[in-house]
Amino acid sequence: MVLAGLANSRCGRTSYKPVSGATVDQPYRTIIEPFKIHSVEPIRVTTRAQREEALSAVGYNLFGLRAEDVLIDLLTDSGTGAMSAEQWAGIQRGNEAYAGAPSYFRFVDAVRNLFPFEHVLPVHQGRAAERVLFAAIGEKGLVIPNNTHFDTTRANIEYSGAEALDLPIPEGLQPSLRHPFKGNMDVVALEALLEERGADVPLVMVTVTNNSGGGQPVSMENLHSVRGVCDRYGKPLFLDACRFAENAWLVKMREPGYEETPVADIVREMASLADGMTMSAKKDPLANIGGWLALNDDELAERCRNFEILTEGYPTYGGLAGRDLEAIAQGLTECVDEDYLRYRIRSIAYLGEALESGGVPVVVPFGGHAVFLDARGLLSHLSPMEYPGQVLACALYEEGGVRSCEIGTVMFGRDASGTEQPARMDLVRLAIPRRTYTQSHIDYVIEVVTRVAARATSLRGFEITSQPAQLRHFTARFAKK
Ligand code: F0G
Repeated sequence: MVLAGLANSRCGRTSYKPVSGATVDQPYRTIIEPFKIHSVEPIRVTTRAQREEALSAVGYNLFGLRAEDVLIDLLTDSGTGAMSAEQWAGIQRGNEAYAGAPSYFRFVDAVRNLFPFEHVLPVHQGRAAERVLFAAIGEKGLVIPNNTHFDTTRANIEYSGAEALDLPIPEGLQPSLRHPFKGNMDVVALEALLEERGADVPLVMVTVTNNSGGGQPVSMENLHSVRGVCDRYGKPLFLDACRFAENAWLVKMREPGYEETPVADIVREMASLADGMTMSAKKDPLANIGGWLALNDDELAERCRNFEILTEGYPTYGGLAGRDLEAIAQGLTECVDEDYLRYRIRSIAYLGEALESGGVPVVVPFGGHAVFLDARGLLSHLSPMEYPGQVLACALYEEGGVRSCEIGTVMFGRDASGTEQPARMDLVRLAIPRRTYTQSHIDYVIEVVTRVAARATSLRGFEITSQPAQLRHFTARFAKK
């Protein structure tokens, strides 16, 4: 039963090269989950009245809800995936020595197998890698370009005094426009920035996939071009690589010349173009916690290590337990498995295609990890300053207990000086936790979203009643206008 609906969907190819290297025929159109369920976690059904009350009590901020009051939790794909039996076995193997634990070396070997950087510093999650890196290199007057900074990356850069600059390609800002690599960086704009303010740019970042830009992949061609520009101006290139495996799979599916390249080799090619990376192991590496900062520069690594000791821990555990390092090491082998990636990316498109054919405006083409609803398009009767993304996300919860996340004017509508302005897009992200929900859960989500979309024009705008100075989307409170 599970994923049977995929039988009617376009799966891209019927013959593929598995990790073992041999090409096999795949005569079936149904792409099944390449795992069976090993332990289950009950979810609780609530009434609309209960949900309305719960949401009003937390000021219409979905982060404020108790997870038990959520039926299908698509708030994030971060740390919410199901671990494998082998990952749980790794948890048992975890060695908790303060310094030099074998779990650390297994972790470093697994990271360097895909990303062979000289220095690998474990940290407790992605934003800690950002904090350590930008504490070492960020300062007032500097500017750090990226295709699109994730919110924590932007916040850590701004906290250091530097400026975070987004340089997506123009196609990446048009939700309904089809382009295979809407995550690409605008290389011409990057070159212009380096020409004008080269001395102020300590490094260039590229986020794969581009989460805030709609989970869209970056092409290898684009990464090579960015590398070329960095070389011309003598700048290091860092990847924010949270979703590297999904990006590599989309390269394999969409970029000419990579059809037969194993995903792990595409990842290694990405790594070969960079000088370092920040990473959250809560995404593609299939762990519930963890991350790392990796880089080649010895002197910068030394400064980062010293800072890491101050805030994260000794550099062979970096704020993680040995067992967490084991779970990440094992997850890194599983996330580049091509059967897993085929199912993963196909199941995202399954959701997206159903919504698109139901007339819901969505970001196309479908990328990795999430389907993004175009709330500004669907709720065109609201101005961006009435937070259409937040309104839509709350309506999905009230309707069917589905929790999603606004990625729009609430998250990005205020600059470092506190000035309010509409974000470039108002999206609602339905992020799909890895290996967690079945097709019937997703079919339910499709029903909920299409029901809300049918009465979208009746939804009222929001105003903010309280908000913190930074990262306001986590704790701001709202009222219906
Ligand atoms: N970079 C990207 C592209 C991210 O998506 C995230 C987290 C981070 C950095 C920070 O990593 O959470 O481990 O500190 N994204 C999550 C999300 C929170 O829901 O998209 P972290």
